[in-house]
Amino acid sequence: MTKIEGFRIQNYRVLKDIAMGRIGTDENLISAKPLTPLTAVIGKNGSGKSSVFDAFAFLADCMDSDLETVCNARGCGGYDKLTTNGNEDEPVKITVCYRESEDDRPITYEVAIGKDKNELPAVRSERLRQRAKNQSHGQPKSFLYLENGKGTVWIGDEALEGDESQRKEVEFEPHKLAIVSLAEQFSENPRIARFKKFIKAWHLSYFYPDAARQIPQAGIQKHLNLYGDNAGNVVQYLERKHPIILKRILEDMSEKIPGIGTIKTYRDEITNNLHLLFQDKGFARPFTQQQMSDGTLKMLCYMLLLRVPDPPPFIFIEEPENGLYHKLLETLASEFRSHAAGPKRGSQVFITTHQPYFVDALELDEVWVLEKGADGISKIKRTGEYAYVQVMTDEGQPLGSLWYSDYLDAR
Ligand SMILES: Nc1ncnc2c1ncn2[C@@H]1O[C@H](COP(=O)(O)OP(=O)(O)OP(=O)(O)O)[C@@H](O)[C@H]1O
Ligand SMILES: [Mg+2]
Repeated sequence: MTKIEGFRIQNYRVLKDIAMGRIGTDENLISAKPLTPLTAVIGKNGSGKSSVFDAFAFLADCMDSDLETVCNARGCGGYDKLTTNGNEDEPVKITVCYRESEDDRPITYEVAIGKDKNELPAVRSERLRQRAKNQSHGQPKSFLYLENGKGTVWIGDEALEGDESQRKEVEFEPHKLAIVSLAEQFSENPRIARFKKFIKAWHLSYFYPDAARQIPQAGIQKHLNLYGDNAGNVVQYLERKHPIILKRILEDMSEKIPGIGTIKTYRDEITNNLHLLFQDKGFARPFTQQQMSDGTLKMLCYMLLLRVPDPPPFIFIEEPENGLYHKLLETLASEFRSHAAGPKRGSQVFITTHQPYFVDALELDEVWVLEKGADGISKIKRTGEYAYVQVMTDEGQPLGSLWYSDYLDAR
């Protein structure tokens, strides 16, 4: 499965320039080692955690819409509000370094978005790069390079800069990402098509428990949607096609949440409404999703998200801890990790969190600390970069308690 090894966000709100993981800089640095399958960003209020989430959502939205629509969507307030305050003349830049599979060479995508002469957001430059098959070091070579809508693509699955026979001049109107248009020509640009497909499959969770309380229309659905209001449809899918997976989810849930027995779907034949019935061990009549607690619905939805047979390749959840009993957080962290790093190598999971109990269950390389300085700009640091933190965790101090005691300061 495709995995993100690193990314860099520049001039995006409070994130003037943050880099996480491998982006082609000095790979001996701890911060430049590839991202772990489970990654957590911690930081105080206003440090920029949601801005990291939004930058990913921004790129994902660009797969479906033009830049002006994306900049105005979800309360973004237009392009000028996206750029770092006081730095409006510089473009917003996003870099993503990814690997299509463990055996493939990493690919780096870089996009810079500024404004055109009519003040509309426009792509300044866009580039995809990869090292050649026999190239063990040095700069990767482009297979797409555009500036202000004009440039070159190297067609096929292997061609790179310098390969004249595969070189093709292209021109696009700059109000949309060129990779979106190029991905439509799959036979010419299979690498670009796969990259777009990867981004479109990202699950950037806007889950809230009240959405999971809604009663959907019956009909199986293979994946939980971004809000979680189709949880019943996913349970219905598992009931029909993968009853063993559902059974395991229920067994694990009943171990973690006192009282939960079975969970079944019930379709009202007249309205076609789909109800989830939770059988509580102490009661004869089941409860519906409307009566269930926030934490129960949340845990169920995370399990549905991760444990379906074909989970999303990349999942980003903001503050998954909200509403969960503190002792469940360690379980949740290991649930995320076992899916991200387990033998099946399921989804890569990104989370933001404030919760020390959650951080306690994480490793040094998995945790990144965002901190806002006196200049209003946030910096990020991997916890493995603090020598004293390494010493303290080696001595048995849990990482979350170091965070709680203010030992983790990114500045
Ligand atoms: N265009 C901008 N330029 C610089 N800073 C900005 C810009 N827009 C917002 N900010 C700052 O970024 C902060 C918001 O960051 P964000 O919402 O990402 O923080 P957070 O870590 O998610 O906080 P919380 O824990 O409260 O959810 C704002 O409080 C504001 O100070
Ligand atoms: Mg936030």
